[in-house]
Amino acid sequence: MADLKGRTVFITGSGGVLGSTYVRRMLAEGARVVASDLKGDRADALVERHGADENFRFYDLDVGDEAGVEEIFKRIQGDGWEPNVVLNNAAITGEMLMGKGKSFPDFADTTVEDFEKTLRTNLTGAFMIARQMDRDIVGKYPATLINVASMYALNGAHHGIYEGMPFKNFSAYGVTKAGIHGLTVWLAGYWADRQATVNTIAPGAVFNGHSDEFQSRVSELIMAGRMGKPDEIADVMLFLASEASGYMTGQLVNVDGGFSAW
Ligand SMILES: NC(=O)c1ccc[n+]([C@@H]2O[C@H](COP(=O)([O-])OP(=O)(O)OC[C@H]3O[C@@H](n4cnc5c(N)ncnc54)[C@H](O)[C@@H]3O)[C@@H](O)[C@H]2O)c1
Repeated sequence: MADLKGRTVFITGSGGVLGSTYVRRMLAEGARVVASDLKGDRADALVERHGADENFRFYDLDVGDEAGVEEIFKRIQGDGWEPNVVLNNAAITGEMLMGKGKSFPDFADTTVEDFEKTLRTNLTGAFMIARQMDRDIVGKYPATLINVASMYALNGAHHGIYEGMPFKNFSAYGVTKAGIHGLTVWLAGYWADRQATVNTIAPGAVFNGHSDEFQSRVSELIMAGRMGKPDEIADVMLFLASEASGYMTGQLVNVDGGFSAW
């Protein structure tokens, strides 16, 4: 397993399905973990779970809030820790955009407001975190940024699998996930002579209580024949966050059971 001793990992959107798995696994591998998320139940649950661990700290952060992002590394550094791994993990992934229990409208009825709300979190937020990393970290000591895309970054959604489901895939999601890899390749060369690397991870469909019907539909599209487990994505995230990935930059790593290879 990846050795994360000496790594101080800053994670946005840490309270979600994958973020909370990264926090748990990174603490177990010896990292210091600086978790962040919107205020609310997920953040509270994370602090409840790990608050007593001396290697864990939590900061409220909305990645769409420019002033908040501009302060974040100074706050962490002011409290004595220097993040050398940054995960752009926060995203509007589903019902957060429309409100609990509400589904996405059809494409024709998608509002500019909802499209731009998604851009603000998933893409502009990731840009602002990377820009702040450039200002406060890059060049001062070796560092790495991991941008989180999706199997729907460079592949279109199979819209049919969402028929009759309580959730849908939405256009802004794929757009932002393709865009975040654009940020990766742009920054890779820009940061190369300042000892900073940047890569993208593209997780596949991760099981999170989905119905048998949805699991069966999506699994037919996956070479492994099943949805992924959060820990299977974390296995690769840990490698990317470790020194073992030091000779990689500008890459997109698919962790999707073969979804993207068909
Ligand atoms: N779960 C999957 O199947 C899957 C697949 C591919 C990619 N991903 C990507 O992995 C990442 C994590 O996904 P997840 O499944 O844990 O999603 P999730 O919805 O469970 O968690 C997302 C987290 O981001 C936070 N967030 C949302 N808006 C924010 C904002 N403005 N500022 C700060 N935090 C904000 C939420 O509070 C939440 O804790 C996302 O980037 C997602 O797109 C997930």
